[in-house]
Amino acid sequence: MRIAVIPGDGIGVDVTAEAVKVLRAAASVFGRSLNLELLPYGADYFLQTGISLPPNGYAMLRDDFDAIYIGALGDPRIPDMRHAREILLGTRFELDLFVNHRPVRLLHERLCPLKNRGPQDVDFVVFRENTEGLYVSVGGRFKAVQEEINTYKGVHRIIKHAFDYAASHGLSKVLMADKSNAMTDGHALWQRLFRELSAQHPGIEATHLYIDALAMQMVKNPAQFQVIVTNNMFGDIITDLGAQLQGGLGMAASGNLHPGRTSMFEPVHGSAPKYAGKNVANPVGAILSAALMLEHLGWKHEAAAVEAAVKDSVVTGNGTAEIGGTLGTRETGDYIASRIQIGHEATKTRNTN
Ligand code: IPM
Ligand code: MN
Repeated sequence: MRIAVIPGDGIGVDVTAEAVKVLRAAASVFGRSLNLELLPYGADYFLQTGISLPPNGYAMLRDDFDAIYIGALGDPRIPDMRHAREILLGTRFELDLFVNHRPVRLLHERLCPLKNRGPQDVDFVVFRENTEGLYVSVGGRFKAVQEEINTYKGVHRIIKHAFDYAASHGLSKVLMADKSNAMTDGHALWQRLFRELSAQHPGIEATHLYIDALAMQMVKNPAQFQVIVTNNMFGDIITDLGAQLQGGLGMAASGNLHPGRTSMFEPVHGSAPKYAGKNVANPVGAILSAALMLEHLGWKHEAAAVEAAVKDSVVTGNGTAEIGGTLGTRETGDYIASRIQIGHEATKTRNTN
């Protein structure tokens, strides 16, 4: 496997080092070969060279690698965020990574800001459309009217992905959120295609909420959700809300996918410049994004081992301040990497007994 690793900016560098450490540990424990190629793109590179990615950058990422791993992008020295847009949004668009897969899974009840909610109450996945909606005109043009693009192809494929995911993961419910009561043209398409695709999946309960009501219900009763599908902007907003339900932005993982093609994985959090280099950032979201990447690449056991090691770290409090622990970023990575070995030994012992 050949992986492009772009640590990027700020705490992206800190947490990527830990994700890489854990990936190496998983590969070594399972006797796999993983070629992690560090690429320098980010704010420093942009300031030195004036470019975000080389001219063939997107094609290089797509054709030369099995997956792309990104830490975070954003730097106060580049206030218009041009490099971040070109690298992150550019890759989403150019590689047609139409699925933004964002799991919302609470690993321990003490991390949930809601009263009396535990891991059984917060465990769902959001599929955010990732290539159109209100994001299409980001790319340098300036206009005061920001139009939302909803195409048949774009809406159909993300809703279909949500149903296919539910069907292949033994899940029984898919919820679609839009604002079709106010955005009567563009979101009528979501309504129509959701009805069409749900008819093809009679075994899956298909429900709908307006996005404002969904935000309320996510706080009121998150246990009702299994799979949520929505557009680019709404998905951006509700996955930050979802991140807090899991214990903070530092806990949340994501994958930007085009099934069957080179896809890109990144924690949901940003570059948090003021915490950069201080060994305080929570690496869990970054490490769980690496686990999502392994799963996407078909390394199911390795992905499960990384997830189990993360869960162990969170449950035992061996983590950073964000999860109530006293460890630094690096020590959290060390702990999680060490648990992969121990967890794997335990599995082997159980299997041979
Ligand atoms: C995210 C981020 C990006 C987005 C920003 C950095 C453009 O918030 O990945 O959720 O809006 O998609
Ligand atoms: Mn966001």
